Amino acid sequence: MAKILVVTSGKGGVGKTTTSAAIGTGLALRGHKTVIVDFDVGLRNLDLIMGCERRVVYDFVNVVNGEANLQQALIKDKRLENLFVLAASQTRDKDALTLEGVEKVLMELKETFDYVVCDSPAGIEKGAHLAMYFADEAIVVTNPEVSSVRDSDRMLGLLSSKSRRAERGEEPIKEHLLITRYNPERVVNGEMLSIADVEEILAIKLKGVIPESQAVLKASNQGVPVILDDQSDAGQAYSDTVERLLGKEKELRFVDVQKKGFFERLFGSK
Ligand SMILES: Nc1ncnc2c1ncn2[C@@H]1O[C@H](COP(=O)(O)OP(=O)(O)OP(=O)(O)O)[C@@H](O)[C@H]1O
Ligand SMILES: [Mg+2]
Repeated sequence: MAKILVVTSGKGGVGKTTTSAAIGTGLALRGHKTVIVDFDVGLRNLDLIMGCERRVVYDFVNVVNGEANLQQALIKDKRLENLFVLAASQTRDKDALTLEGVEKVLMELKETFDYVVCDSPAGIEKGAHLAMYFADEAIVVTNPEVSSVRDSDRMLGLLSSKSRRAERGEEPIKEHLLITRYNPERVVNGEMLSIADVEEILAIKLKGVIPESQAVLKASNQGVPVILDDQSDAGQAYSDTVERLLGKEKELRFVDVQKKGFFERLFGSK
């Protein structure tokens, strides 16, 4: 059965698009036919992070409006056989997507894909609502700081009350917690919430912790999802997260303060 997975957060700039690209790519790497859909109308970030921005001819809004069919709008990843992107529109009209239009496109995608990964825009308003409304599962992306956790908590309230599953009284959306931009040193110094703090406040199952990492910016500048950088800490942490989403047990990595080597202690580190 095809699954619709929304990557959502409430607060902006926490790492949703980075996560959508990484998780979507990770699922495709493991043999699942996957499409990543950009719901961020007006911004179009996903195609940059996936490195397919020059290939966008038709987008999500064109399909909703009947100006193109899905085959015309789906962009096939140049690295992976079973990975596709549906880009967001650059139109300034934030109302270009409607619930009926989104439903039509998602239901059609469900017929041919194993996973439909929806990259939500920031906030809890219309765009974020459209991205989560039809979801079967939600990855709630949270940074270990109070404002991000608070907004994620509001999003959890919406997932359990304003989604289609909630409105129909069906089995609730399965919620997964993903902590991103985690910096163990800052936690030890009391500048960031700990993993346990975040888990306690949100009380949903933790599926991964992605460290703050320079590899993320480097990868996005190159248009490569960071999960394909399998030497990087963030790439490996995303791989572990995908494994856990698929039901495997994996210990958390990159969550403890690294003991500094002699030279680093002597000269300091970045
Ligand atoms: N683990 C990480 N380490 C370092 N930087 C990160 C990490 N994750 C994300 N970033 C950076 O944070 C910024 C925001 O990331 P991203 O665009 O994925 O967030 P977003 O939640 O999609 O934002 P928006 O709400 O605007 O859509 C980017 O510059 C990205 O490179
Ligand atoms: Mg984004």
